[in-house]
Amino acid sequence: MTRDWDDLADELGVRAVADGEPTRWYDELWSAAGRGDVPLPWDHTDPHPLLAEWTAQGAAERTAEHGDGGGRRAVVVGCGLGGDSEHLAREGWRTTAFDISPAAVTAVRDRYPDSPVDYRTGDLLELTPDLRGAFDLVVEIYTLQALHPSLRERAVAGVRGLLAPGGTALVVQVVRRDDQPRTAEPPWLLTRAEMEAVAGDGVELASLDEVLPAGRVNPLWRMLLTRP
Ligand SMILES: C[S@@+](CC[C@H](N)C(=O)[O-])C[C@H]1O[C@@H](n2cnc3c(N)ncnc32)[C@H](O)[C@@H]1O
Repeated sequence: MTRDWDDLADELGVRAVADGEPTRWYDELWSAAGRGDVPLPWDHTDPHPLLAEWTAQGAAERTAEHGDGGGRRAVVVGCGLGGDSEHLAREGWRTTAFDISPAAVTAVRDRYPDSPVDYRTGDLLELTPDLRGAFDLVVEIYTLQALHPSLRERAVAGVRGLLAPGGTALVVQVVRRDDQPRTAEPPWLLTRAEMEAVAGDGVELASLDEVLPAGRVNPLWRMLLTRP
């Protein structure tokens, strides 16, 4: 292996945007990893600490609104290698997890061949009818910021579109300050105002905090949305 996956991601992302095909680079990157050209990207088996915290809080409270899945339906957007989706399945959520990259879905199925999670190829920008309004919990961690800003409106509509009435969405992204310029390469981080704009169309902002989980370098937005 000759290079870092994140250098390749920058290069592929910039080129895909310049070519007017801004969603092309994810499968290019995952396929390069599948061939062994670079290490697997976003490689972790543990859940994101903010998801783990949210589910632990729910398990402790045993409320209907939080955590413990109790067979309710969850979806993980841009699931990558499945750390979050496997966690939700262990917590009792009937879990679907999708990624735009077929190579990513191959990698996660290879990693968890006996998983109860429904792993599938899917595009947040073009939700299939069976995913629309189907989920009590939507987990969206770092995919909005991986999508070029020209796709943001459609991506946001996708997040909203997954939520069932009464459902909750947990959205986690790296903080971009108002005075911090956008980069040419991914990730294209979100400001507070851009995070707030994820609410709308019947989906309400429940909370938006800036947090720094232990061991992390970059402050994160942690947002909870609900569809009443
Ligand atoms: C930054 S990675 C994060 C992966 C995972 N959520 C994690 O935290 O480890 C973003 C993932 O979203 C996927 N992705 C990008 N655009 C997508 C889209 N429109 N629909 C579904 N998945 C997408 C990419 O292939 C990639 O696996």
